[in-house]
Amino acid sequence: MIPLRLPLLAVLVSLALCQYYDYDYQPASMLGPSGPNCNQECECPINFPSAMYCDSRKLKFVPVVPTGIKYLYLHNNQIEEIKAGVFDNVTDGLRWLVLDKNHLTNAKIAKGTIDKLTALEKLFFSYNNITEPVIPPSKSLDELKMMHNKLTKFPSGLLSDKENLTSINLQHNELTSDAIAGAFKGPKKLMSLDVSNNKLKKLPAGVPSSLEILYADYNDIDSIGAGYLNKLPKLQYLRVSHNKLVDSGIPAGVFNVSSLVELDLSFNKLQSIPEINEQLEQFYLQANEISKFDLGSFCKFSGPLNYSRLKHLRLDANNITQSSMPPDTSNCLRQASDIMFD
Ligand SMILES: *[C@@H]1O[C@H](CO)[C@@H](O)[C@H](O)[C@H]1NC(C)=O
Ligand SMILES: *[C@@H]1O[C@H](CO)[C@@H](O)[C@H](O)[C@H]1NC(C)=O
Ligand SMILES: *[C@@H]1O[C@H](CO)[C@@H](O)[C@H](O)[C@H]1NC(C)=O
Ligand SMILES: *[C@@H]1O[C@H](CO)[C@@H](O)[C@H](O)[C@H]1NC(C)=O
Ligand SMILES: *[C@@H]1O[C@H](CO)[C@@H](O)[C@H](O)[C@H]1NC(C)=O
Ligand SMILES: *[C@@H]1O[C@H](CO)[C@@H](O)[C@H](O)[C@H]1NC(C)=O
Repeated sequence: MIPLRLPLLAVLVSLALCQYYDYDYQPASMLGPSGPNCNQECECPINFPSAMYCDSRKLKFVPVVPTGIKYLYLHNNQIEEIKAGVFDNVTDGLRWLVLDKNHLTNAKIAKGTIDKLTALEKLFFSYNNITEPVIPPSKSLDELKMMHNKLTKFPSGLLSDKENLTSINLQHNELTSDAIAGAFKGPKKLMSLDVSNNKLKKLPAGVPSSLEILYADYNDIDSIGAGYLNKLPKLQYLRVSHNKLVDSGIPAGVFNVSSLVELDLSFNKLQSIPEINEQLEQFYLQANEISKFDLGSFCKFSGPLNYSRLKHLRLDANNITQSSMPPDTSNCLRQASDIMFD
């Protein structure tokens, strides 16, 4: 029964939405004898024959995939090329394709391979050298990971029919705001989008209103559009740390939306504390240029039912100390157990 746990484990890991590149496949040597219908370069567990493990074995090409394979693991090889025909027997059967940590470029992905996969649910393509996204026609795609590549564009419309897509990871690429205009329109169930470590000048436009997590750390963002968050009524986690945000780029009340639970604006150039909603719980502002503590940023009015739900507030590495807090702070910030000044 052990191999049955493998995809489940990976599902759990991806459900945890961890931002780090970290999954825990079992080494092939623990898989036991190989099933009958398997490419000889790979292993297919006898009691889980729809999985084919071809990872970590110095492969230069994607091997021919036999009929019946649904889960294909090819990570950690030296694959440079996907030749025509390798997926011909699984075009409507393959569900998971894991190609992380190889040497793939767009030029060496033959026509009639990934562009024929109509049932794919997960495409993991991180740590390769692609410059353009490779998107299968499958309407069932639910998870897309293409981090640590050289993506310079993500054309509009590629994801328009991906009704079940919930998670997209594109961190550590070379995407600009123009190059992703309209890229994320369409997937109506998208929950999580990570575009950290790119070259964005603003938060991605046209993202679906289903979004709950948006990470855009380490870009060149200097402003946030007025009303940007009003179009995202479910957004709970927003990270825009290590950007170029300045006070003039933050319209009044832009972060005052009741869905937000965590807001990370650390390592920017803010001089004052932006207004936030009473519901926010985690607020990161360390390493900015803040020199005043305005209680009105947290509570316009304090009363028995009117107070900030903030628990953690980081203000270290700013030009401000504990003594900058007005005496009535504790009425407004009555749940803040942890306010850091240094
Ligand atoms: C692909 O399918 C054809 C037709 O069913 C079959 O003859 C062939 O052996 C299959 N190849 C593989 C690698 O499964
Ligand atoms: C990507 O290409 C560069 C050279 O263009 C090479 O140095 C690097 O090793 C390649 N990376 C991968 C993951 O293939
Ligand atoms: C989307 O997911 C639902 C629920 O899992 C499923 O019933 C439906 O068939 C999926 N749609 C596609 C196009 O795969
Ligand atoms: C946030 O907006 C609400 C109305 O939507 C307003 O009552 C409240 O004062 C605002 N909070 C701050 C800190 O500006
Ligand atoms: C105080 O809180 C209540 C309930 O949350 C709200 O309806 C009311 O508008 C708030 N009053 C002010 C002045 O913010
Ligand atoms: C830091 O704060 C002090 C006292 O509020 C102020 O005099 C000084 O100009 C500030 N320095 C900077 C760089 O903002």
